[in-house]
Amino acid sequence: MRDIKKVELHLHFEGAAPPAFIRGLAQEKNVDLSKIFREDGSYAYRDFSHFLQVYEAATSVLTGPEEFARLTRALLEESASHGVVYTEAFLSPDFCGGGDVAAWREYLAAIQEVADTAERDMGISLRGIVTCIRHFGPEQAKAVATCAAETASEWVVGFGMGGDEMMGAPSDFAWSFDCAREAGLAITTHAGEWGGAKSVRDSVEALRPARIGHGVQAIDDPELCDLLAERDIVLEVCPGSNVFLGVYPKLEAHPIQRLRDRGVKVTISTDDPPFFHTTMTREYENLSRVFGYDESDFADFANTALDAAFCDEATRDTIRERLTHE
Ligand code: ADE
Ligand code: ZN
Repeated sequence: MRDIKKVELHLHFEGAAPPAFIRGLAQEKNVDLSKIFREDGSYAYRDFSHFLQVYEAATSVLTGPEEFARLTRALLEESASHGVVYTEAFLSPDFCGGGDVAAWREYLAAIQEVADTAERDMGISLRGIVTCIRHFGPEQAKAVATCAAETASEWVVGFGMGGDEMMGAPSDFAWSFDCAREAGLAITTHAGEWGGAKSVRDSVEALRPARIGHGVQAIDDPELCDLLAERDIVLEVCPGSNVFLGVYPKLEAHPIQRLRDRGVKVTISTDDPPFFHTTMTREYENLSRVFGYDESDFADFANTALDAAFCDEATRDTIRERLTHE
């Protein structure tokens, strides 16, 4: 499973930080983060809203471009070791300069430099999706969208939204998504992880995304599934995350196969792997055990993800070669 070539579309930068990495930075900076770790060294949180708090506490030691450069190297080494050849990762200017465009450019330059080196050394390509955080509110999202629009490029390819889906309405963020779209960025948004099928529908109508982060609760509305299938809206499904956070009690209850059966395009990602004790290899192993997925299913996931990737066509061709010939 580890050796199968993979494409990942839904990975949060900060959420990919191993606990030992964050603990090490906390020690360097003399910051007491002991309450966010269990005795065994893993992240400690009770539920989704506490997860968001622990996540934000962990980011408090990612204080500058240098820390993000180190994180980029660590996450790309980890992903490459699991057969990932292309990954799109969410970057939040909120944690990279607080929404200031000049500061954001410095973080981006540091991250891109490491990504370019990793591409040569490890055969993994990274692209960024600038992401606003829903519970930080629509005004802060405008600053983030401005950062995104100012730095749209071959590398900054998309705009998205994560955070607490139960806060506000998607339409509150329409200005930010329109701003990003006008700058040429492709659109994804978290929806239907916690907010039900209605949240997916509202997001599709208000924000017109090409992809949805999670989106799994669309399964409860058959007409919505048909709409997603008709419009070719691709789901970034993160099964291990959904089970670990309790969206579904166990993988057997996860709707991934029912979504596929209804013609909805799905891809596989890890979301925040160390927080959920997962990796792309583990996702594949668990899906194989529970749903009987085999090489052809995994090829389908990788090709669907590559078709839905926000990169340019030359990059897509390069990655297709990696999927088929290596
Ligand atoms: N940010 C990081 N992980 C997230 C998740 N699973 N849902 C919403 N926002 C997030
Ligand atoms: Zn996510």
